[in-house]
Amino acid sequence: MMTAAQADARAKELDARDPLAPYRAEFCIPRVGDVASSRRGDAGECVYLVGNSLGLMPKATRAAVLQELDDWARLGVEGHFHAQHPWYPSHEELRAGLAHIVGAQEKEVVAMNSLTTNLHLLMASFYRPTRGRFKIVIEDGAFPSDSYAVQSQVEWHARHAGFDPGAGLVRLRPRDGESTLRTPDILEAIDREKDSIALLMLSGVNYLTGQRFDMEAITAFVRSRGIVVGWDLAHAAGNVELALHDWGCDFAAWCHYKYLNSGPGAVGGAFVHERHLGDATMPRLAGWWGNDPATRFRMEPTFVPVARADAWALSNPPVLALAPVRVSLGIFARATMASLCAKSRALTEFADALLRGVEGVKVVTPEEAAARGCQFSLRFDREARRVHEALGAAGVVADFREPDVIRVAPVPLYNSFGDVARLALVLRDVLGAMQ
Ligand SMILES: Cc1ncc(COP(=O)(O)O)c(C=O)c1O
Repeated sequence: MMTAAQADARAKELDARDPLAPYRAEFCIPRVGDVASSRRGDAGECVYLVGNSLGLMPKATRAAVLQELDDWARLGVEGHFHAQHPWYPSHEELRAGLAHIVGAQEKEVVAMNSLTTNLHLLMASFYRPTRGRFKIVIEDGAFPSDSYAVQSQVEWHARHAGFDPGAGLVRLRPRDGESTLRTPDILEAIDREKDSIALLMLSGVNYLTGQRFDMEAITAFVRSRGIVVGWDLAHAAGNVELALHDWGCDFAAWCHYKYLNSGPGAVGGAFVHERHLGDATMPRLAGWWGNDPATRFRMEPTFVPVARADAWALSNPPVLALAPVRVSLGIFARATMASLCAKSRALTEFADALLRGVEGVKVVTPEEAAARGCQFSLRFDREARRVHEALGAAGVVADFREPDVIRVAPVPLYNSFGDVARLALVLRDVLGAMQ
């Protein structure tokens, strides 16, 4: 176990040779004195470790949003074609950036709505249960909104398709005494009920444990059993490298307010694999923005889906809300997911060395690099809520999930090795004082 002085010296060394270190200056880092949970009157920067919950604001975002307001003020309706970033095709401007984040072709991605809405829109097309094949596989520990979404889809279809809604979900649970799922156990559970499963919908990275699933292996296995596969990438997009196209995933949805730094309630993202694009026979809930733009303004009553993921979009794009997404994707395009993930691995290795083995702390997140992103989930042998409060009072912003988990996520865009060393030091002090 490194001493505080050794950790500090090591952090300085690692920060000094971090090629991504300059990106931190592009973000607004909250000040200790401004954050309610922290010590009042301290003007220093917080150690902000909740990019897995709400990413920080890039400094360029304010000007980008104001530009849209100025264009609206100056141009009125003509902003649709003459704004600095013309509004009519504003979602199209994001395609390359989105494709980079999730490993897709540009036509396979679209920015629209928010996450749960997109999951429902995609399930409207991809969950097509029959009397015999109707089950949805989900993690027992899925984010509640996902559980509600799949349960309500099951109930929505059950009577019409003639199956028992009570039997509609297959919930994947870790083994007794374990916190995370093992890939062979996931595959075995799917195989056991393969003929009655219509859809598998898992998260790429679990929100609570930080476990990253082997999306490639699971997707290949599930598809080989004739099951449709969709992913909730809320905690994976912008956090880990993804290759949705090559892995053959059917669909995915994610948000942009966590690792993608586009602000509270930011517009979400969706992916539909190329093989499903342009299929006019596919059932969907349609709106005019999913219609082929070549014929959209003929105002005809029959829907003609454009051969892009945009076919699932319903409404014209929310321009003020897309500006922060555009700024964020620009930063990711410059930094690149490959470099960010390389730094993320180094940050998590460093964090692991400092956190695993601290007395009273149990790291829930898997140790294996391939099985996690940048989030660490910690359990304690004493009251986690009080640990969380004490961290906040010392200017370390972490997040607490009932009943006993504290999550910390050193993100490679704006967190430093120094932040991780500070977290470890404060945590040891806090636990020492609580004994
Ligand atoms: C894994 C996961 N799914 C779904 C949601 C819900 O997202 P939204 O409120 O954007 O629909 C969240 C929000 O944090 C999440 O983490």
